[in-house]
Amino acid sequence: MKKPILVVTTRFVKPVETRIDNEFEVRRKADGTPFQHDELLAAAEGADALFVTPFDRLDAEFFERVSPSVKVISTYSVGVDHIDLQAAAQRHIAIGYTPTAVTDATADVAMLLLLGASRRAFEAQELVRSGEWTVPRSGALLGWQLTGKILGILGMGRIGQAVAKRARAFGMKIHYSDPHQLPEEKAGDAVFHADPLELLGVSQFLSLHAPETEKTHHFLNAKTIALLPPGAIVINTARGGFIVDDDLIAALKSGRVAAAGLDVFEGEPKLNPGYAELKNTFLLPHIGSATVESRTQMGMVALDNIKAVLTGKPAPSLVAAQTE
Ligand code: DGY
Repeated sequence: MKKPILVVTTRFVKPVETRIDNEFEVRRKADGTPFQHDELLAAAEGADALFVTPFDRLDAEFFERVSPSVKVISTYSVGVDHIDLQAAAQRHIAIGYTPTAVTDATADVAMLLLLGASRRAFEAQELVRSGEWTVPRSGALLGWQLTGKILGILGMGRIGQAVAKRARAFGMKIHYSDPHQLPEEKAGDAVFHADPLELLGVSQFLSLHAPETEKTHHFLNAKTIALLPPGAIVINTARGGFIVDDDLIAALKSGRVAAAGLDVFEGEPKLNPGYAELKNTFLLPHIGSATVESRTQMGMVALDNIKAVLTGKPAPSLVAAQTE
C-alpha cells in the first residue's frame, strides 16, 4: 500500500525518526536545516501532512497558498501561536499538537529558572569558570530564598499546575490567575485572582504559563512591571511575545526587577542583546521540553494525530477540528 507523504521540518529523536521512515514517504531537507517559507510551500505540493515546529510560522498567507492535498498539520509543541488556526479551519486542515507531552519537562525548567535567577547562577558560574574565585567571600553572590515567598502563576493549565506542585515542595505560597478558577481538588491552597493585574501586585516571583494570544501579547510591559513588588523575579517558559523586552531590561538594570529567568524570547533564536549584557539574567535557549522522554512522547503524539486524521479515526489531540 502506498505510504502517505509527510513533510518534516526538523530532525527528531531516533524512535520518532524511525517511525516516520517506516510509516511515511518522507520529504525533509537533506542538510537538516529548517525550510524557508516558500520552500515549505513547495515541499507541501502533493503531500498529505506536515510535521512542523514552533519555528515554522504558518500564517494566513501560508494557508491561502498551501497545497489542497494537505489534510493535517501536526506541531511538535503545546503552543500553537505560530499557526493561524482560523485560516487552517477555512482550508479544512486539521491541526494537531502535543498538550500533555511537555508538562513535566517544562515545569522542571521553570524551577531551574526560578532557582537559577534567584540564586544568581549565571554570576556564580562565571566566577568559577573564569578562575576569579580566589578568596572565600561570605557576603558575595547573595541570592533570595524561595521558602515562604509568593509565586504568582499566570496561566494555571497543565504546566502551571505542575509548577505549583514543585514550588510547594520548596515552601512557596501559590497564587494564580487564569480565565477559569480551578476546582478545589486541583487548586489546593492556591489563591485565585480573577484579575491578572491583581496577581502581579502580590507576585514576589512571577511565572508565565499562558498561551500567547492577542490578549497576552506584551502583557508584561513598563506599566504592568510597575505593579510587581519591588525586587520581584520574573520567569518565562511560555512565549517570548509575552514581554516587552526593552521594558523588562530597563527594570532589571534599575533593580526594580531583581532577576529574570528566561527560556523563551520574542523573535528567537535571536534575542534582545540587552539580556545577555546583564548579570541578573539566567538565560536558556528554549529547552523547556528538551528531554529524551518529552521529545519522544511529543513526536509520537504528533504522528498519532497525523495517522488518525489520514485514516479517518479520532485523533488524540487536535486544536482545530476539520470542518466540512
Ligand atoms: C511548546 O511545546 O510549545 C514548547 O515551547 C516547544 O518546545
